[in-house]
Formats: sequence, structure tokens, C-alpha cells
Amino acid sequence: MLHVLTHPLATHVLTRLRDRTTEPASFRALAHQVGLLLALEATRDLPLRSYAVNTPLEPHTGGLLAEPLVVVPILRAGLGMVQPWLDLFPDVSVGYVGLERDHQTAQARSYYCKLPPLAGRRVLCVDPMLATGGSAVQALDLLREQGAADLALVVIVASPAGVAAVEAKHPDVPIFTAALDRELNPQKYILPGLGDFGDRLYGT
Ligand code: PRP
Ligand code: URA
Repeated sequence: MLHVLTHPLATHVLTRLRDRTTEPASFRALAHQVGLLLALEATRDLPLRSYAVNTPLEPHTGGLLAEPLVVVPILRAGLGMVQPWLDLFPDVSVGYVGLERDHQTAQARSYYCKLPPLAGRRVLCVDPMLATGGSAVQALDLLREQGAADLALVVIVASPAGVAAVEAKHPDVPIFTAALDRELNPQKYILPGLGDFGDRLYGT
């Protein structure tokens, strides 16, 4: 259930994101670019309903998206992945889950939650970094409790440990990522990774 982007543009953008000299303004633009590629990949299988139109030349039966979508960023860094969804799917609903990792223990603490109805909708949980997987598992638990059945996790960089943690607790949730990196360091940052995504996105 792990999908890793293979498009050369994804590698190009990710390499620039990894570069420590990339400043927040460029970092945000690059996050938007890779977010678009990920959003397209994560929605390849969206159902369509048939829809009849008249072209200027003849009648035609085409298709329109059949399901409403919900995107749920894990605050704060997940906010950097919302705009691509709004650009591609203007009717998307947005929910918010606030989780923050403690710098000493790397355990995520919940501080905010505001969600639209989730039942019967495709729910995309977005967070750029899947490190230990603690934040993603907590968010997916919460989304399930709130009625989400059709769930996917969309990240920019994943670690093997993070993927294993999500697969152990939520084996039916597909994970879409632009990169599967090597490992975590002792502070539970991803290697080679790109550092603290939230800090680089917002210049903190
Ligand atoms: C980062 C990231 C994830 C989490 C991943 O957020 O955006 O939410 O760490 O780590 P994990 O897989 O080990 O849980 P952080 O807690 O640093 O908060 P921020 O988004 O406010 O910067
Ligand atoms: N959060 C980040 O922002 N980066 C990491 O490498 C791990 C968690």
C-alpha cells in the first residue's frame, strides 16, 4: 500500500527541498509543486459518475467526480500541503488536526481538532514528514473514530519506521510519498530528510 512518486519532477523538487540553502519562500513554492504531484497520484482511482453534455458538435457522455473529498492537514507543517488540493479540487472540504512532537521524547501531543463530516467521503490526511509515524497513527485513529472509512495518507518524505508503524495499525490505508528515505537519527529526524519541515516552511 506504499506508493512512491517516480516522476523526475518529483525528484527535482525534492532535491531542492532537501537543500539547506533553500529559503522559506522557495521552500513553500516547492512544497506546493510536489503537493500537486502527490494529490494527482493519490486520486488516480477516484470514482466517476457518467454525465451527458452536448459538445459544439454532438452529444457526449463523459464523467464527473462522484465523491466529495476531504483533506485534513496535520498542523502545522501539513498546512503547506493544502493549497494543491484547493487548486485541483475546488469543492474539497478541509479539516484540521493539531499535533506537535515533543522535542525530547518525539511523542506527538494533540492540541486542536476541527473536522467536517467524514463518513462516505474520501479523506486525505496530509503531513509532509512521516518519521516515527506517531503523529500519523494518532491522526488516522482520530479520523477513523470520527467516521472516516475511505482514508489515505499523503506525505512528502517517509521513513521505513514510519511506514511500518502506519501499516501495523492501519494496514488498509494507502500511503503516498515523494520519497522513502533511509532511516531516523537518534533525535527521530529523517535521514537524509530535509530537516524540520514546519520550521523551514515558516522560517521559525
Ligand atoms: C512534524 C511533522 C509530523 C511529525 C512527524 O511535525 O510535520 O507531524 O513531525 O513525526 P512523527 O512521525 O515522528 O510523529 P512537528 O511535530 O514537528 O510539528 P509542526 O508541524 O508544528 O512543526
Ligand atoms: N519532523 C520533521 O519536520 N522532520 C523530520 O525529519 C522528522 C519530523
